[in-house]
Amino acid sequence: MMAGPERITLALTGASGSQYGLRLLDCLVQEEREVHFLISKAAQLVMATETDVVLPPKPQAMQAFLTEYTGAAPGQVRVFGQSDWMAPPASGSSAPAAMVVCPCSTGTLSAIATGASNNLIERAADVALKERRQLVLVPRESPFSSIHLENMLKLSNLGVTILPASPGFYHQPQHLHGRCGSHRAGQQQLLRPSVGYWL
Ligand SMILES: Cc1cc2nc3c(=O)[nH]c(=O)nc-3n(C[C@H](O)[C@H](O)[C@H](O)COP(=O)(O)O)c2cc1C
Repeated sequence: MMAGPERITLALTGASGSQYGLRLLDCLVQEEREVHFLISKAAQLVMATETDVVLPPKPQAMQAFLTEYTGAAPGQVRVFGQSDWMAPPASGSSAPAAMVVCPCSTGTLSAIATGASNNLIERAADVALKERRQLVLVPRESPFSSIHLENMLKLSNLGVTILPASPGFYHQPQHLHGRCGSHRAGQQQLLRPSVGYWL
């Protein structure tokens, strides 16, 4: 039986580390979860820079692409555009129980910390906060400024899990694939236990 939330919002924003987001998507699909997939324009640019994956820009075509890419069941991965205010993640009554922003740019981190809600990713995170749902952010920047750290502290104090993209090396990885795998394992540990434990 699946542990943790059945439906998860996964948002990719324009920080380095699009591989993390793609692999987390793959992992969630393999665990037979329903994924509401959101991606910013900047994340698409970063993904084109960092990977061979070229996402179609329109949500419907992107959904078909990601369904095939991950081997998901029809309807298991749902893609919503950044201005789709009617999408389930935009409303407290229909939003999934958990949301992960992976990777999370410092821009989106700041917008979440101030409740800007200027696009669907920011709105979905705002909904997760106001509804006190599980929210996990995977920020990536180096070095972090005091502004980034203050935003992270503010959100952490609100119950958000700040899970920086800083993989461990305990398993003596020989290549990048191993490093990503280690970090993904960390993300999955956060999502796998009962949601209540993390709230
Ligand atoms: C190739 C590339 C790499 C970037 N890497 C980072 C990064 O690691 N962390 C970060 O916070 N921003 C990074 N940025 C800048 C963000 O993409 C930019 O601030 C953008 O406005 C974020 O928008 P979003 O939060 O809507 O995705 C990068 C941009 C590009 C083009």
